Formats: sequence, C-alpha cells, structure tokens
Amino acid sequence: MIRFRKLARAASLLTTPLAPEDILSLFNPVYSARQLRGVVTRVVPETADSATIFFRPGRGWQAHLAGQWARIGVELDGVRHWRSYSLSAPAGQDPAITVTDLGAVSAALVRNTKPGDVLFLAPPQGDFVLPEHPRPLLMLTAGSGITPVMSMIRTLVPHRADSDVVLIHTARTPADAIFREELAELADQFPHFRVIHWFTGERGRLDFSSAAGLEQLCPDWRQRAAYACGPESFLDDAEALWEAETATAEPSSEATLTIERFSTKLAGGEGHDGGLVTFEASDREVEADGDTPLLDVGEDAGVLMPSGCRMGICHSCLIPLRAGQVRDLRTDEVHGEPGQLIQTCVSAAAGPVNLDL
Ligand SMILES: Cc1cc2nc3c(=O)[nH]c(=O)nc-3n(C[C@H](O)[C@H](O)[C@H](O)COP(=O)(O)OP(=O)(O)OC[C@H]3O[C@@H](n4cnc5c(N)ncnc54)[C@H](O)[C@@H]3O)c2cc1C
Ligand code: FES
Repeated sequence: MIRFRKLARAASLLTTPLAPEDILSLFNPVYSARQLRGVVTRVVPETADSATIFFRPGRGWQAHLAGQWARIGVELDGVRHWRSYSLSAPAGQDPAITVTDLGAVSAALVRNTKPGDVLFLAPPQGDFVLPEHPRPLLMLTAGSGITPVMSMIRTLVPHRADSDVVLIHTARTPADAIFREELAELADQFPHFRVIHWFTGERGRLDFSSAAGLEQLCPDWRQRAAYACGPESFLDDAEALWEAETATAEPSSEATLTIERFSTKLAGGEGHDGGLVTFEASDREVEADGDTPLLDVGEDAGVLMPSGCRMGICHSCLIPLRAGQVRDLRTDEVHGEPGQLIQTCVSAAAGPVNLDL
C-alpha cells in the first residue's frame, strides 16, 4: 500500500494528459482510486452455457459471506453495464462468480472472459446467508440458482461434521446441471450431505403444489431451515407451499423459507402513457412509454446509469427526481415529489419526467 501511495505521488508530479490513477493502472490493473476492480485469474467452463470466473479483487473489496452477491461491471461497445452475480466460491477464499449465458452481458462474461481481463466491482452484499445458529438445512435450487447455495455448501459441508444439509437441485438434463460432479463427490465423502438431482427433461417439473412431492424427497422438510433460489415460477411455488404450511402448521413445525431472486416480475405491457424523459446533467431527452424502466430508457439513450440488481432490491439505481411523476412497475402506484429518490430499475415515466443525472 505504502509503495502505491509513493507511486501515486510520483505519478501526480508527471506532466502528462493521463491522470495519476491511469498511470498506476498501467502498473497494476486492479488499482483505481475511483472504482473497485478485479483481475480475472481463471475461467472454468461448467456446462455448455455457463462458466466460473475467478478474480483477484483490488483494494476496497470485503470478504464475502457464503450466499452473498456482488455487482459486476462489464464494458460492451464502450458502455459499462452492471449486473449482479452470486459469489460461488466458499467464504474465506478468493471470489468467483458462475454465470449462465442468458443475454448480452452474461454471454460476454461466459464466452469472452479470459485471465488478465479486468472486471469492475462493487463490494459483496445480501442477506441470503447461512443461519447464525446451526440448523438442519434444505436447499432447493433450479438452474443457475445453485450458485449462492454452492458457496454455502462449500463453506459448510467439508468443515462442519455436525451440519446436516439436503440439496434438491433441478436442471433440464444431467449435462445442464452445474457443479454436478463436485456435488456427487461431496455427498460420497460426507454422510451429513445428501444431494438429489431432479432432471425436468426426464421427470417434468418438480411439483410444489402440495407437500406430498417434497415429502417423498425429504420427509423431514418441516424441521429444516429451507433456502431456495431459481426462476420466478419455481420460487413462487415454493413460497406458496411454505405459506400454506405456516398457516396450518403444528406448533412443533420449524419450517422457514429464505428466498433469493435473480429477476423480478414487473407489471409492464399494460399500455400506460409515458412521456418525455429529460436527463438534465447528461443533456439528453428521450420519449419513453409508460411501461419501460427508466434505467433501460437511459441506457438506450447512452446515459451512464447507476444500477445493480435491476429488480428493486439493492437501491444502487437511486436518482433524484427533479420534476414529474413515475409509475412503480411492481405495484402500479404513481408517485413523485421534486427531490425524491427514485429506483430507476422499477420506475417508468408517468408523464414528462426530469431526472438529476
Ligand atoms: C442477487 C442476484 C444474483 C444473481 N446471481 C447470478 C448468478 O450467480 N449467475 C447468473 O448467471 N445470474 C445471476 N443473476 C442474474 C444476472 O444478474 C443477470 O440478470 C443475468 O446474467 C442476465 O443478464 P444479461 O445482461 O445477460 O441479460 P438481460 O438481457 O439483462 O436479461 C435476459 C433475461 O433473463 C432474465 N433473467 C435474469 N436472470 C435469470 C435467471 N437466473 N433465470 C432466468 N431468467 C433470468 C432477465 O429478467 C431477462 O428477462 C443474479 C441476479 C441477482 C439480482
Ligand atoms: S438496480 Fe437494484 S434497486 Fe435498482
């Protein structure tokens, strides 16, 4: 660190069009006084559509708890896009993300990332983490939803002989099941860990409409702290089952469910009226409909928009409203006072809107 401060001072004395941070980044790609960065150390293909990217973060990163996620920034055609990714490495080890190719940013990460590349980062966050006190656990995951749970399993299972973990993971086919071999090895090695792979291509969807299906796979599910991560419909079904259980539960039931969502349902497509959106500081004006998040409107207009989860949970996209009103795409509520901070990822224009960006 001291060496870098000296270098920073020396760099600032040089007369050059480059800022001192830019000179330092020539020596060390993860150095930046303004933006946390990480350098990719290894890329491991997982399935045909997914890969794990290991990186060494620079100063400002905090060690992650098993199950947490981080915002990752990637530059595509000169525009920086931020997405959230769960950290799949165990707590206490260098971070890694496991990305499934679903759209432009994830495709770039899975297909084009190589060792030495620099990622833009924000520190880990999230409360989808292991319980404070040991409890028998039931993990329900589907597709890429295995990633935060894999961090928990890697953290817990090899190090805690008193742990008791059942994982039910669904994927379309064995070839699509991320971490399948490692999970099988862990289950062979540690009797307190049981893994059930459910392949929807062979057996259809895992049925959560009643407790019977789950009971067959994990008879004592009511005595376990459950964690679920996967697509919307999978999580909605699990939520409904646990809600029904809580409503009729025996006093002895200890069923709890903690959910991590990677995407959220927005109302959209209702044909609401939008308006002219003005990005004051960026000097851009664009006509927007009443169903498109202002985050997308700004990005499409080339405005550098702050963002994170893109689903209303992390508050990274807050921008002060100067004038006008917005529609909350989750609730359909129209609101807005001058100076109010709005979440652009879940707000659409409801008439003309001026934003302080
Ligand atoms: C807290 C959090 C943790 C996340 N962790 C991971 C992770 O560990 N690995 C990972 O691959 N992705 C993860 N995601 C999703 C990730 O942030 C991106 O949304 C995803 O990579 C798609 O981005 P894109 O730009 O490629 O495609 P976009 O064009 O932005 O999105 C393509 C479509 O895919 C939908 N989508 C996003 N994620 C999923 C999903 N998991 N299943 C089905 N549809 C989805 C989007 O809603 C959109 O409709 C996480 C998201 C959040 C909020
Ligand atoms: S980007 Fe996370 S709340 Fe909007």
